[in-house]
Amino acid sequence: LISRVAGGRLAVPDFGGLAADIDRIYADLQSETGGKVADYIPQLAQVDPDQFAISVCTVDGQRHTVGDADEPFCLQSISKAIGYCLALEEHGVDKVHQHVGREPSGVAFNALTLNPRGRPHNPMINAGAIMCCSLIRPGGLLADRFDHVMRTWERLTGRRPGYANATYLSERATADRNFALAYFMRENGAFPRDTDIVETLEFYFQCCSIEITAQMLAVAAATLANGGVNPLTRERVFSEVTVQHCLSLMVSCGMYDYSGEFAFTVGLPAKSGVAGDLMVVVPQLLGVSVWSPRLDELGNTVRGIEVCNRLVELYQVHPH
Ligand code: DON
Repeated sequence: LISRVAGGRLAVPDFGGLAADIDRIYADLQSETGGKVADYIPQLAQVDPDQFAISVCTVDGQRHTVGDADEPFCLQSISKAIGYCLALEEHGVDKVHQHVGREPSGVAFNALTLNPRGRPHNPMINAGAIMCCSLIRPGGLLADRFDHVMRTWERLTGRRPGYANATYLSERATADRNFALAYFMRENGAFPRDTDIVETLEFYFQCCSIEITAQMLAVAAATLANGGVNPLTRERVFSEVTVQHCLSLMVSCGMYDYSGEFAFTVGLPAKSGVAGDLMVVVPQLLGVSVWSPRLDELGNTVRGIEVCNRLVELYQVHPH
């Protein structure tokens, strides 16, 4: 970073201006109290809905954060993007897409539906993420598989993530729909051989209950923006082609059933989760994270979407 400053080669030369804009957007959106917290997972319903954080990290490691950026929240569906990357790294694109499609589903993230080949529509919805979890199996033991995911988040963010056991327990106890999806996929012969359905579901719930902060999530988003290399540690976490596939599916499928509208208005790869978390990637430039638990009807963070709209108004980051 220092040599880039000295050489006048910063990814975002006026970073101070960007930081001031982020602070202004944050202050403006304090009064935005629309939406409601997810309540279908009991532990998520207990989260303070007023919490709000925005964080950015550039591909050369300039960072700015405002609000509750050190408060932990559960990844929920944001884990799906990284689960897909891990499945790709382990098996390659052809094998992964024998088990999961890559088209938007056009229906809700937990809809009981498969594509015409009896496969989940894409890795960014529940069925597809459960399928990717079944493919992440280094070492075979569930403990090793979970360690592998935790270590990956540590490499993506530069810090050790936490884990919300209560959220895991409450999700597992109320997960009839996800069990139904898994049995429906098994009926269709969608899983790899030797898949233990219950173990796979537990692994999926555990991945959703990994806790990070907005500050960490911005670094993970910047790692994706930087083609898979963490801008703070300089470590390569994923190959460029893995990141490319993941960003493509984040554009087409990352915002649930709002993905088409988001691609039209914002045009950036993004992934949201029902904890009110959102990560947005501006390729080659920076990662943005927003956390604000109140969700709209489609399950996206209300303030998070608004942060994106405002950033696109201020900066010409829409790539198309
Ligand atoms: O399986 C669930 O319903 C949650 N663990 C995650 C849902 C979520 O964030 C939205 N999914 N695409």
